[in-house]
Amino acid sequence: MKVVVRVGGSVVGSPLNAPMINRYVTLLKDWKNQGHKVVAVVGGGSLAREFIKVAAYLGLEEERRDWAAIHVSRLFAQLFVLSLGDSGCEAVPVSLDEAEACLKKEKIVVMGGLRPGMTTDTVAALIGERVKADLLVKGSNVDGIYTKDPRKYCDAKKVDKLRFKELVGLFDAKQHKAGINQIIDPEAVKILAKIRLRTIVVDGYDTANLVFAVEGRQVGTVIE
Ligand code: UTP
Repeated sequence: MKVVVRVGGSVVGSPLNAPMINRYVTLLKDWKNQGHKVVAVVGGGSLAREFIKVAAYLGLEEERRDWAAIHVSRLFAQLFVLSLGDSGCEAVPVSLDEAEACLKKEKIVVMGGLRPGMTTDTVAALIGERVKADLLVKGSNVDGIYTKDPRKYCDAKKVDKLRFKELVGLFDAKQHKAGINQIIDPEAVKILAKIRLRTIVVDGYDTANLVFAVEGRQVGTVIE
């Protein structure tokens, strides 16, 4: 199976969590050994947001602030690359072409941000489109998508399965917007819906959930 895994910067890097990074590195190697082709896209977490704030304080315009955040996510990705050694690419790819070329060499690809004006969710969707992935799994800091913001509403219910169309509907419903947008970027959803890439959002603090997702067991929220 060709899997894109979106590793939450909030999960591995807010604050930087060495044992968690190690668990993800092990997971990626296990998948490769089982014959899967793997691309991981790591987010920049709270450190990226701090860098954006500092860049803003320094008077940098939006594009440069974005670059600061992109470099943070690439630094996280670099840690993965170093730790993967021979199983991974030589470096963090900075374009879809580089990522695709590395995957063709049967190596695990780990990347961060690509260019200003997007998030790593969109990077994951774009690389998923490019390599014709079978599955996108997002290891998030929430365990799935809820009918309402669960931090605000105690009657919020987790949704097991969702159609892309329904998700777009949830984005449009203003009262849900803020919470849902943090779970998965609407720009990424547009691409995922277009290419119909099965996407599963799981609690990323336990890597067993990502294993379940790849094994086809019900976990988190499945969007298709
Ligand atoms: P992230 O994707 O790193 O943050 O984008 P996130 O959505 O909070 O995900 P996690 O929790 O860290 O995994 C953070 C910011 O970095 C810039 C944008 O400003 C984005 O809002 N960014 C990131 C880019 O401009 N381009 C990219 O390709 C990636």
